[in-house]
Amino acid sequence: MVLHPGASESPRCSISRPTSSEPARLHIRRVTTLWRPWRWAFPQVTPVPAARLPYRVKLSAGKHYAWCACGHSKKQPFCDGTHRTEAPSIAPLRFTADKDRTALLCACKQTKNAPYCDGSHLKVIYRDVVKSLKGIFK
Ligand code: FES
Repeated sequence: MVLHPGASESPRCSISRPTSSEPARLHIRRVTTLWRPWRWAFPQVTPVPAARLPYRVKLSAGKHYAWCACGHSKKQPFCDGTHRTEAPSIAPLRFTADKDRTALLCACKQTKNAPYCDGSHLKVIYRDVVKSLKGIFK
């Protein structure tokens, strides 16, 4: 079982928002395995980028949201349940907005500050450009 170094091995450990030093992907995987232990039988699936740029969304104070972590949802950036068939090892990240505000929610699914954008989409864009150039000069 792979746990983040700061995580408790007890299945009763509390689930908290990832900190800036904790990779979001590990956090999501840990939450998924704690809630759905039978998912160990399925191979891990990596999230797919839903878009290259973040979504600008108005969040309401006290409202609960489920941010799509797999990238397959048709209601981006929020979960529509598609992960159950497309990426069964990935679960949405549930969070509550603390105040009314406009936020940039990650669309490339590579952020380390889920569900918020941390600029990781620049790496995704760079990787895609390099891949395209390699294809051209092959
Ligand atoms: S559809 Fe992507 S996490 Fe639910």
